[in-house]
Amino acid sequence: MHALWSANRERFSEMFDPGEMELCIIRARYSAGLISKKEYADGLIDMYKTRDKEKLGLRGAYLALNVPLEYILLLDTQHITEAQCGILKDIYHNTISFLQRTRDTGSLCFQLEYAFAILDAFIEIPGLISFEDMCIGCLAAIHPPTYVHTMMVGQITRCLCKHLLLYKPELFDELRNALNLDDEGILEYAWHAAVCHDIGKLAIIDTIMIYGRKILDSEFTLIKQHPDVSAAMMSQHRSTAGYVNVARGHHKWYDDSRGYPEEFSTSSLPERVIINLVTCNLCFSGWHNLVFI
Ligand SMILES: [Fe+2]
Ligand SMILES: [Fe+2]
Repeated sequence: MHALWSANRERFSEMFDPGEMELCIIRARYSAGLISKKEYADGLIDMYKTRDKEKLGLRGAYLALNVPLEYILLLDTQHITEAQCGILKDIYHNTISFLQRTRDTGSLCFQLEYAFAILDAFIEIPGLISFEDMCIGCLAAIHPPTYVHTMMVGQITRCLCKHLLLYKPELFDELRNALNLDDEGILEYAWHAAVCHDIGKLAIIDTIMIYGRKILDSEFTLIKQHPDVSAAMMSQHRSTAGYVNVARGHHKWYDDSRGYPEEFSTSSLPERVIINLVTCNLCFSGWHNLVFI
């Protein structure tokens, strides 16, 4: 393949982007045992660093999102070196910036698929980049209304929490004891939990982008899965694992009588005071004129 490509570079360039072809070749060489895992990873990073950052279409997405994804999947998550940490940080920031610059292009669906795969393979590096920051950055880049909604829910939840801690501190006794938090810790907890509540929408972002018509029942069925998806994504990472129940329960009524997911009960959880506040605050910060999700 390499020989064919080298001998007819000009002709094949009409059909394939050189970067795309280079990726196929390096992948094939690794699969055939001709190069080591390290050489494969280094080759991917070389391609990534030399990509044309102005290319925002399908092929740009291929090099800006697929190549780093392949690199992340190669890493041994238990033994990440300092150099790899730096590369990962760049990849994550570049991913957000790429999504932001290409939001209005025709290749959005293609990009979302890779972007979600990067989130799925995300490696958290405490102190450098957290899953929470990455998800919030992606929401801001792909769907600003959800980002604004997220920030509003976070701020209103923290504000109400502050007042309730003053006037009804006993409401927080169970949470305080279960998580060993002081008042400042509870405020921090409320902010992060509220900000993370809709992370699962990143998995169904093309459905929530429907404007100008009512959503179909089948689409609403998909949307109703976002609390469970949030919980599944968040449970994988240190920065978000503590807020899983808030994400999962944020569409349940305070007495579990209505809302979704049907089988999930919030009434006996120590976090229920925060869950109820977040649920309540959705009404103040609905991002969509059709439905609060
Ligand atoms: Fe939601
Ligand atoms: Fe929400």
